[in-house]
Formats: sequence, C-alpha cells, structure tokens
Amino acid sequence: MSPLPEELSLVPLHQHPELLEACAELLAEEWGKSRALRLHALQRSSDAFPTCLALLRTPAPTEPTCPPSLVGHVRLSRVAGQPSSLFVESVVVARALRGRGYGRQLMEATERYARARGFCCLHLSTHDKQQFYAHLGFVPAEPVQIVPFLSPAMPAAALQAFAVPSSPTAAAPVVLAAPQPPLSPPAVPPPPPLPPPSRTGRGPAEGTGQSPQESPHRDARGLPIFWMKKDI
Ligand SMILES: CC(C)(COP(=O)(O)OP(=O)(O)OC[C@H]1O[C@@H](n2cnc3c(N)ncnc32)[C@H](O)[C@@H]1OP(=O)(O)O)[C@@H](O)C(=O)NCCC(=O)NCCS
Repeated sequence: MSPLPEELSLVPLHQHPELLEACAELLAEEWGKSRALRLHALQRSSDAFPTCLALLRTPAPTEPTCPPSLVGHVRLSRVAGQPSSLFVESVVVARALRGRGYGRQLMEATERYARARGFCCLHLSTHDKQQFYAHLGFVPAEPVQIVPFLSPAMPAAALQAFAVPSSPTAAAPVVLAAPQPPLSPPAVPPPPPLPPPSRTGRGPAEGTGQSPQESPHRDARGLPIFWMKKDI
C-alpha cells in the first residue's frame, strides 16, 4: 500500500479481492463490455504485471463505521524492450467523483507505486485526455508495445523473449498498447512507421510528430491516438 495524503490509499487488486466487483463495475460503466468479462481480466492482476491498482477512500476517523469506497482504478503493464518502464492504462475515476483532484491523486500515487518498485518511466496512450496527462507532466513520446498477461508458470528468463525491439513488426507475442482497457491482449498491428515531422507550425513535440491537438498515430480503428511518457 502506498502512503497518500488525506484518507486515500492505492492498493493492488489481487490483495483486495473484495474490490473486484466494484472495479469491474467501474470499468464496465466507463468502457462497456460485460462486467463478467471485466471481472475475469481484473482477476489476473498480479505483482508480476499486469497489476491492477485501486484508489480507495477510507473513512475519516470521525466516521469509523463507513467502509472504504472505490475512487478509481489503473492498470500497469511491462513495456517490451524497456525493463525500467511501465505502461499505464485503464485510468478511471468514478463519475460522481471527477473534477475533485482524485485523478491527479490516482496518477501521482501510481508514480510512487512504480518508483518504489524500481521503475523510472511511465508510458501511456490516449485518444482524448492528452491535456490532462500533459498537465500532470507527461510529454509526447514514441509508441511502445506492452507485454500482455503471461502464464504465472512462465519463468522470468522467458520475459527476455519480449525484450525486443529491433523492429516493431518482429515481436509477434507483444501487443500494441491501447488506451482503453482490453479484455484480453488485442490482436492489433504494431504501430506504423512514424511520418516525417509536421510542418504545420503548430508546435509538435520534437521528434514525435505530435502536438496537443494532432497526432500522426492511429489506433486499430483508425482513430487518432496520442502517445506520452513521464520520467518519474
Ligand atoms: C481522466 C480522469 C481520470 C481525470 O480524473 P479527475 O478526477 O476528473 O481529474 P482531477 O480532478 O484530479 O484533475 C487533475 C488536474 O487535471 C486537470 N484536468 C482534468 N481533466 C482534464 C482534461 N480533460 N484536460 C485538461 N486538464 C484536465 C484538472 O483541472 C486538474 O488540475 P489541477 O490539479 O491543477 O487543479 C477522469 O476524468 C476519468 O475517469 N475519465 C473517464 C475515463 C478516461 O477517459 N480515462 C483516461 C483514459 S486515457
């Protein structure tokens, strides 16, 4: 558990099975798909990644009878070929609680969680929340590939097999990260080669071809997608 100001705490879901149902509901409410499928994916959380984390609001000492309630959720996965990086996805705050600083708390607690485990960079992708992440210190970045769920029986050495990346097309078992929570590793093609730097004069970040308004990258459905990262 990570220490947080106020009465918030960030806990790994696999250590708190009592939160599984509520997390599944939170994700299903935001992104659809059945609660049962969400539940199945959440049940695969582990310390070996992907790890699902729940932001909890615990009662103030003056309200000892209130149980802790779920505020938000985030999932962390390993990044192929970048052993000191994690990929952040399925970032969500309960609808009724948005706009009160919990999203920032969720992301900052996630940074502390990752840093405490020796990671020094967070990556993510988003369709429309690039301004939110930029506000929290994320900058435009190149696309990365995440390491999907692996069998618990898979030896650590096997992870080396995912430590690709000479070329993004050469890594069959590795999937392209998506900004919404996939229920299972999606069979999405690797990112396309980066186009030449934009010449529109709207200030794309150097080398990424991205600006807060424009991205040269597209997801599997052809929608613009923004890739970002933050050194932590
Ligand atoms: C994105 C989300 C997690 C933000 O949570 P939140 O609790 O509303 O955000 P906060 O209130 O903590 O906002 C933190 C800061 O970001 C800013 N911010 C929030 N949303 C923003 C946005 N869309 N664009 C720019 N800034 C934003 C806030 O003004 C605030 O600034 P401050 O800390 O300097 O006052 C929440 O809106 C959400 O769950 N959305 C639906 C799921 C989703 O889209 N997730 C992202 C997938 S990539």
